[in-house]
Formats: sequence, structure tokens, C-alpha cells
Amino acid sequence: MNESSKTALEQAEQEGKYIRKVRSFVKREGRLTKGQAAAIEKCWATMGLEHAQGRLDFTEVFGNDNDVVVEIGFGMGKSLVEMAKNTPDQNFIGIEVHRPGVGACLMEADEQGVTNLRVFEHDAVEVLADCIPDASLAKLQLFFPDPWHKKRHHKRRIVQAEFVEKLRAKLRIGGVFHMATDWENYAEHMLEVMQSAPGFANQSDSSDYVPRPDFRPLTKFEQRGHRLGHGVWDLMFERTA
Ligand SMILES: C[S@@+](CC[C@H](N)C(=O)[O-])C[C@H]1O[C@@H](n2cnc3c(N)ncnc32)[C@H](O)[C@@H]1O
Repeated sequence: MNESSKTALEQAEQEGKYIRKVRSFVKREGRLTKGQAAAIEKCWATMGLEHAQGRLDFTEVFGNDNDVVVEIGFGMGKSLVEMAKNTPDQNFIGIEVHRPGVGACLMEADEQGVTNLRVFEHDAVEVLADCIPDASLAKLQLFFPDPWHKKRHHKRRIVQAEFVEKLRAKLRIGGVFHMATDWENYAEHMLEVMQSAPGFANQSDSSDYVPRPDFRPLTKFEQRGHRLGHGVWDLMFERTA
């Protein structure tokens, strides 16, 4: 970066402008199937949330005061819909950038008759910052995030000290950040970041990983991991301050 663009960047940051330098995803322009497109058309008005709406009022969004769980990067949404269906007394918000995934999730939710689920098609980092009220969430879920295998890409991993600090503000005290990955090196990275993060307590008895909780359905990526003989690591950290 040259000196003048560096100065422009610093000035914008001082003015409080939101600048993203590294993203955790590469937008793939996958084609929508007919079913996915039809589901978006049919369900967006009732289940879609827009980043441009700004700060959400959950009572207004869901029509009740039940606990709210946010899932970041739900992929095709199968496990998210299953969780929402299995837990009707909680509200779920899924955030995903991949449009076919959003379509697939809405299709599944519609088929299953799920009503306690809303979705964003947007970058979760921006949705958390701009749409989710502080201290409002019972749980934040991040299952099988893109592992960015190469060392030079590790900065793209979504779990970073700065992100975790912003995310903590969105959990209520006692709220839980639940991560899972089938990539050992990412699990170690998650653990390292969380151990140094202020205001969290590890829920693991052994101060590292927790057994896979029954309420987390097997995802497509996990099933694939099992076939490849990978392990899976779950991490659960409670907000304490
Ligand atoms: C490896 S996939 C896992 C999907 C799903 N959780 C599962 O277990 O099957 C990771 C997903 O996270 C999404 N993703 C990555 N960064 C994101 C971000 N900043 N905001 C929203 N979604 C994101 C990607 O588009 C991708 O679908």
C-alpha cells in the first residue's frame, strides 16, 4: 500500500468509517436451482432479513420474546433448519453469503414448516456489527467455517481476536459461542484465540474441547469429514463479562 492510500485509510478509520481489509469468504456465483429460486421468491417476504434494515427488534421480527440463536455461515442450512425444528421455543437467525445456500435453506424450512427461523444473505461480520443488538443473543454458532488451509491465508479465518471481541458484545452474559471444525489446526487456532480472549469461560472440563452436544445435528461437512477419517472438535465458551 502506498503512503497516500495508507493515510486515506487511517483517516477513514478515525472518522469511524467501517473498512474491511480481509474477508473470510470468496463470493462464488453458483447458479440457483429452480427450487431454490422459487423458495426465495416464496419465502423472502416472511423469512428474509436485509442488512439495510439496520438494528433489529427481535420481538417484532419473531412476534415473541424467546431466546435468539445466530448461526454464521450455515452453508445449505440443513442442520440449521433441523435445529430450528427441534427447538421451537427458540428463535434462529442464519447468516450466509452464498445465495444457493440461502435458497436451499429456505426451501428446506418451507418443506419442514419451520416458522422460528429468519435468514440474511450477507457478510456475517457486517450483520453482527449493524443489525444485532448488544447483549441480545443466547447463542452464537459457527459450524465448520472455511478453514483456509494455507498458512498465508490464515488471516482470512473468521475466528480472530478482533472478531471474537466484537462477537462477545452481542452475546448476553451467560450466552455461549459454539464452534465446531473438522480441521485440527483450525481447532487449535480457535482454542488459542479463545483462551486469550477476555470475558469468556471455557465450558470444557478438560479446558480444551467439549463432546459433540446432541442438539448439534450432523452437517454435510461433518459427514464428509467422518468418511475421510477426520476428527471433529467442538468448542463452547460462555460470556462471563
Ligand atoms: C465450509 S462451509 C460450512 C457450511 C455449514 N456450516 C456446514 O457445516 O455444512 C462455510 C460457509 O460459511 C460461509 N461464510 C464464510 N464467511 C462468511 C461470512 N463472513 N458471512 C456469512 N457466511 C460466511 C461460506 O459461504 C460457506 O457457506
